[in-house]
Amino acid sequence: MARSGFIRAASILFPLLILVNGQTTSNSADGLNGSAQPTALATVGTVSIDGTHTAFRPIFTIPASADEGATLLPNIEDPQAVNAQDVCPGYKASQVKDDERGLTAVLTLAGAACNAYGTDIEVLNLKVEYQAANRLAISISPAFIDSSNYSHYIVPEDLVPRPTLESSYTDIDLDFNWDNEPTFWFSVTRHSTGDVLFTTENQKLVFENQFVEFVSSLPDDYNLYGLGERIHSLRLNHNLTATIYAADAGDPIDVYGSHPFYLDTRYFETDGHGKQKLVKNSPLPRGNSGGSKYESYSHGVYLRNMHGQEVRLQPDSVTWRTIGGSIDLFFFDGPSQREVTKQYQLAAVGLPALQSYWGFGYHQCRWGYRNWTELRQVVDTFKAFDIPLETIWTDIDYMDQYRDFTVDPVTFPVSEAQAFLEQLHADGQHYIPIVDSAIYIPNPTNSSDAYATYTRGNESGAFLLNPDGSQYIGAVWPGYTVFPDWLSKYSIPWWVNEMVTWHKDIPFDGIWIDMSEVSSFCVGSCGTGNITLNPVHPPFSLPGEVGNIIYDYPEGFNITNATDAASALAASNVNHPPYVINHVQGDLTVHAVSPNATHHNGVQEYDVHNLWGHQILNATYQALLSVFPGKRPFIIGRSTFAGSGKWSGHWGGDNTSKWYYMYFSIPQALSFSLFGIPMFGVDTCGFNGNSDYELCSRWMQLSAFFPFYRNHNTLSANSQEPYIWESVARASRTAMNIRYSLLPYIYTLFYQAHTTGSTVMRALAWEFPNEPLLAGVDTQFMLGPSLLITPVLEPGADTVNGIFPGIIDGEVWYDWYTQEKVQAQAGVNTTINAPLGHIPVFIRSGSVLPQQEPGYTTAESRKNPWGLLVALSEDGDATGSLYVDDGESLEPTDTLTVAFTVMNGKLKADVNGNYKDTNSLGNVTIMGVDGCDGNVKLNGEKIDDSKVDCDEGTGVLKLTGLNDVTKSGAWIASWTLSWA
Ligand code: NOJ
Repeated sequence: MARSGFIRAASILFPLLILVNGQTTSNSADGLNGSAQPTALATVGTVSIDGTHTAFRPIFTIPASADEGATLLPNIEDPQAVNAQDVCPGYKASQVKDDERGLTAVLTLAGAACNAYGTDIEVLNLKVEYQAANRLAISISPAFIDSSNYSHYIVPEDLVPRPTLESSYTDIDLDFNWDNEPTFWFSVTRHSTGDVLFTTENQKLVFENQFVEFVSSLPDDYNLYGLGERIHSLRLNHNLTATIYAADAGDPIDVYGSHPFYLDTRYFETDGHGKQKLVKNSPLPRGNSGGSKYESYSHGVYLRNMHGQEVRLQPDSVTWRTIGGSIDLFFFDGPSQREVTKQYQLAAVGLPALQSYWGFGYHQCRWGYRNWTELRQVVDTFKAFDIPLETIWTDIDYMDQYRDFTVDPVTFPVSEAQAFLEQLHADGQHYIPIVDSAIYIPNPTNSSDAYATYTRGNESGAFLLNPDGSQYIGAVWPGYTVFPDWLSKYSIPWWVNEMVTWHKDIPFDGIWIDMSEVSSFCVGSCGTGNITLNPVHPPFSLPGEVGNIIYDYPEGFNITNATDAASALAASNVNHPPYVINHVQGDLTVHAVSPNATHHNGVQEYDVHNLWGHQILNATYQALLSVFPGKRPFIIGRSTFAGSGKWSGHWGGDNTSKWYYMYFSIPQALSFSLFGIPMFGVDTCGFNGNSDYELCSRWMQLSAFFPFYRNHNTLSANSQEPYIWESVARASRTAMNIRYSLLPYIYTLFYQAHTTGSTVMRALAWEFPNEPLLAGVDTQFMLGPSLLITPVLEPGADTVNGIFPGIIDGEVWYDWYTQEKVQAQAGVNTTINAPLGHIPVFIRSGSVLPQQEPGYTTAESRKNPWGLLVALSEDGDATGSLYVDDGESLEPTDTLTVAFTVMNGKLKADVNGNYKDTNSLGNVTIMGVDGCDGNVKLNGEKIDDSKVDCDEGTGVLKLTGLNDVTKSGAWIASWTLSWA
């Protein structure tokens, strides 16, 4: 088939075959839900989107069929499927050796092999370790790894560190028990309560080369959280198969990341003499006056395994199935969520990265910003509307034909970039470009198609291979592409070099990593034999593309495609393992690099698929350390694994401009708190589809209380920057004003997360662990310990129902806006006024919140006077803290911490550290004062009455204009403020 040469700006040179309609189509950005395009091969198509061209050339379109896999019936939906529990023999333990740190044993198949979904492994090693004062490890792995007819990939320590033995362990509140009747089983109980946390009694252990299964019973009406990534309510439902296989899917069930970890919380009714009985949550027990009658115990379970897996929740059990690897289980004894999360991060996956201060400013993005001029207009319009904008982002539009580390020479030329970025940086603002995971492979027959990034990576052996050693060639936005092999020692240096070099042209401030599951738009190495067609168009239309494209296949395409698939199958069964997990794409080879793609060291993607997105974040982290020596890398990535938080934040992926997606952002964020990735936010106002002012207004206000705050939109959907609608502009200003005033509080929370593993966004149940009623609450959340957010999550509402937690134990809440005490009853939904433009925010009693007067950017805010917001408890007490540093150093040497305590009408600020901040203290507001006589003193010196406003009626004492008495800086020394 003749193909026109590569032509730029073809909309000028060629008639448009695809028309612009400016409307959203039902096609998802990544083609997942998109309707399949005609299956004939393309001849010529010119793509024009949203009024201008973003793809410019006559191109061959990969047929939709290239991304169609086998039709597979997931095992859990197959009525004929063999139940391994029925047919497999289980194991018997022998050679048991135990000591005070645990035991080892040999597990031998207890009967004839069942070979249910692979080949049974005859002999296993069991190792149980009381690893630390809060952690038990149970590992079961093949005794003879690497026998001739099967290989067994065990997670290497350098890829995913294994928690190690600590010297102190005797305080552990977990007991391991085991028995051989009827076959080997084990249990983990909480020592102090005797509660059985996990037991495989009466269930068989199944351990095959491509299938591992173990089953534990769970108490009635259990509370499990985690097992990500999925779009789901926070409390996992009891008939759920949580599939863990990284997928490029904004599907509302299983999405981009892999987090084989759960939190289990159990409530007990108490009578003052210890636990009595386990509480069922349905119907949820109501709180009543007189103090809580319940207490909860939480533990965590982490399976250190990176194979595809399903965690099947049923009303009374959890069944864990993996398609490879070993059982490497870790139990964290808690006993509260707070401790479980810390234990998990500290020992297993690492503490989250300290974020740069500027990362907490507001981010604006969209797919479809067409050139630097448009970007400038967006930045200027934010300013004109006085809506703070910290960072402007570009999606793949900026690239030269969607190739990483390039810019489109016509629409995003380097020459203009320099001026644009210089101005942006001078204004204290930032720029983040997307970087895709796949690397374009140039057309070897077209010398003008040369692509140095590819050439350099190829020369150093940085890309994935086929089993036969040839290059694995899939397809993503630019056409046929290759994929970095993160197990190759050459890949990270190559990636670092690409980023360092590119930064010289385009001085970006952080990186957005996309498509890292790793996504590929065709099954197998579909580009093999076809790269002379490059650049090609993806096998689905991009959002906004409409019209009749004439599709056609190139000569020989059917043959090469079919051959690839057949040879892969014959060689191994990794592409279609015998056990079919309930995967969103059906077939593991669909819309992702296939499991048989092979690393230079021989490891197949099958064994490490879930880790690809994690490793590109590591590589990018290394790269940014080179780009910005000594500074904190700012990275937001799509596919994550247990531990990605130490390098990166995460956004929730391709949601839709629907109300229920706004709701789902809360449980998704809270789950990422459990996973140790606190820097989380979603596409505010919704990605797919058009937003409207009501949804966008509510969403802009809600996301203002998420750590990562970004509005992002798909190509061709209506614009949704907050200035598009007057009401959204107003609502955004209001919420941003609160957010920016709280930047010191948010930053301090992140510092605490980074140093201790505490969470930033918190579920009500975690802050108030004695209220079973809160176990499933995910329509409200806490930002840190002190702020309760109760957003409106439905259209047409001007009130919202919410619970005020803790009242049963004497908690008091103050309205952010009126500063008045809330009148509410324990355990009862209260109707809260919430007209459009108002997001209910309440302050928990006993808190001191550090604040700073908001500026237009975070840099400006950092130069403004400080403030303190104090919410007194019923006893007149409060505490709080503040952490300050330069906001950007990787390992800051100069830091400042301030501990605030209030007691008996005195607020003490205890200042420590050597970071110099000379901003004055502007004001202090104290809510809940019990009368004040006007005699307010700072370090014993009376404060002028003109600066003091005490409202006895509301109990609010306001001190303003303190700047002149704190001129040399609010935190230059410790001080005491007294008012009683
Ligand atoms: C998929 C990402 O999830 C989305 O945010 C982005 O806009 C598109 N890829 C295009 O790059």
